[in-house]
Amino acid sequence: MWAEEHRDWSTVDYSKLISGEAFPSTFMWGVATAAHQIEGGNVNNWSAFEPHSKSGQLSGLACDHFARVDQDLELISNLNVSHYRFSIEWSRVEPEQGKWNQEAIKWYSDLVDGLVARGIQPMATLHHFTQPLWWEDKGGFEAEENIANWITFCKKMFEVLGSRVKWWCTINEPAVFTTMGYILGEFPPGIRSFKRARTVALNLMRAHAQCYRALKKMPCGKEANIGLVKNINIFDPYRRWNPIHWLQAKLLDEMFNRCWLKGIKKGRFRPPSSLISRKITGLKGSSDFIGVNYYTHLLATPFMPTKVEIDPIIRPWEERTDFRYPMYAEGLRRSFDMVENLNIPIIVTENGVADDDDDMRPEHIRRHLLITAEAIEDGLDVRGFYHWSLMDNFEWAEGYDLRFGLYHVNYETQERKLKESGELYADIAKAHRMPQVVILAGGLGTRLGGIAEKVPKSLIEVDGKPMLSHILEWAQSQGCMDALILTGHLGEHFDGFTHQGMALNFHRETEPLGTGGALWHAKEHLQDEFILLWGDDFHPIDYNKLVSLHRRESSKITMTVTESHEDMNLLHQDGRVTAYDKSENKPENFNGYEAGTSVVDKQVVENYGKEGKWSWEETVYPKLSGEIVAHIDDTAFWDMGTPEKLSQIKDFFDKGRSR
Ligand code: GAL
Repeated sequence: MWAEEHRDWSTVDYSKLISGEAFPSTFMWGVATAAHQIEGGNVNNWSAFEPHSKSGQLSGLACDHFARVDQDLELISNLNVSHYRFSIEWSRVEPEQGKWNQEAIKWYSDLVDGLVARGIQPMATLHHFTQPLWWEDKGGFEAEENIANWITFCKKMFEVLGSRVKWWCTINEPAVFTTMGYILGEFPPGIRSFKRARTVALNLMRAHAQCYRALKKMPCGKEANIGLVKNINIFDPYRRWNPIHWLQAKLLDEMFNRCWLKGIKKGRFRPPSSLISRKITGLKGSSDFIGVNYYTHLLATPFMPTKVEIDPIIRPWEERTDFRYPMYAEGLRRSFDMVENLNIPIIVTENGVADDDDDMRPEHIRRHLLITAEAIEDGLDVRGFYHWSLMDNFEWAEGYDLRFGLYHVNYETQERKLKESGELYADIAKAHRMPQVVILAGGLGTRLGGIAEKVPKSLIEVDGKPMLSHILEWAQSQGCMDALILTGHLGEHFDGFTHQGMALNFHRETEPLGTGGALWHAKEHLQDEFILLWGDDFHPIDYNKLVSLHRRESSKITMTVTESHEDMNLLHQDGRVTAYDKSENKPENFNGYEAGTSVVDKQVVENYGKEGKWSWEETVYPKLSGEIVAHIDDTAFWDMGTPEKLSQIKDFFDKGRSR
């Protein structure tokens, strides 16, 4: 823990990041922002403090995100991320005590809808440094009785968004809020008092615990993931031979990092600089995950500057960021090791760099992602990474001088421009993300009789829910977040069908078009690469292996082939499918069966498709014979074609449940 690792980064191999093999496919790829830094036009404790801040700059219109949210949603989506972390501005939602601004609430609700529709999962922060003036006037976090007001706001937002937002951060960086606001005086209310800082620290932890407990009790509370976001600063002794430097490092580490983490772990909290610890009701275990915001390490001496204007000391080989502290990716691993004993999932809720000309950021991203990937490989439960930030924004006391964005913002014109680092991040995310799932769900169950003659098979209930829900659930467990469902000509049966956490698009036809015709007709909605599934088959295979193979081979179609099936419908040799025949009399030498899940490049649909009714498998497979990559996987698939098979699949789910 106390070893100060420094790597020779010039010899590090980043190829896995680019090839998409460094992270599991369920990894959360995110970008983060905070309301006050981007929205513009906020009136709160910060806007009141800004004239007295170090830079004296006013946040003003910021990125004008409040007005430009539709455009910004596209920017988020273009980064190929799966998650977006934002904060909800309390002063907008409740500008006067007890008066709710319905328009503002709707704005956040629409933001969430906009994200979900794009297959991006929202993560909402309930306190990110700002609070309404009416509450600040009452003493903010200095008065314990004020906590109840904040909880009312949290509950209000959870009531509105809880069914759609599954990730919640209670308080962002309580140690930064306390230190900057009440010890260093750099943030509002600009105070320098250890005594007042202790009270605030205590109340922040009380507020976090109360918020967690209150939301957990609400509808959707149990399924929600609610956690604290903790900034971890690594402190190292400047001179490693000097016991006083060690002591200082240890002291700062305790005040800034450990006491807060211990609080969550043990339920007792000893605020920084306090001698006594106190039990806080509900604090123990009050985090479903721990959010780690990591930026740097600091070298400790008893004479460290307490003014932000003075450059911190750094190691001679280290590179300073525009914030003057060094880039030190190795510290991210040390942060993971520090929070690991909480035994809860770890999420990097912020990591990024102030870098005006974007010459450092690409390397910053590579290093921190590599460290994260290694930690996962070593068995640490790191679930996601949110880059700070989506776009350049109002950097608190530093105003607009520091640029943290993946998009450059021109504050005069409000024009956003993707930086090279943004392109890199988007490429890495894309290489690791699962493609769109396309489900052929229009088929009728003619052989099933009764209801299935009029209702698509994929909507028949198996084990308490439609087959389609089982299929989507599996796809989701594999990291897919976006599905196109081809509903055939009976599309109205799918009205109102949803699946929590996935963006669904439905495409209907006016007349039956067959499997090929259905794909051809939906081609505008197909992504460049997609996973093709049959709506009446449940095929629980590992998508990662399949997709990796497809990408490695730059294949047009990669088909899952099983060799353990009673009859065979294809021939595969040297990793390629060379013949396909689903008729009765097929050649003796056939040695495989198409198991269902395949990966397809959209070009195949464009190049071989045609108008009218046609069969995908009978048209495309023969044409691409010898080019289709075979992914051998003998996992059983379950189809529901006949009443017999339907009952087998029921048994299968039954067994799964009792396991
Ligand atoms: C964090 C904070 C963010 C952002 C970032 C960059 O402490 O949560 O709002 O400003 O630092 O310095």
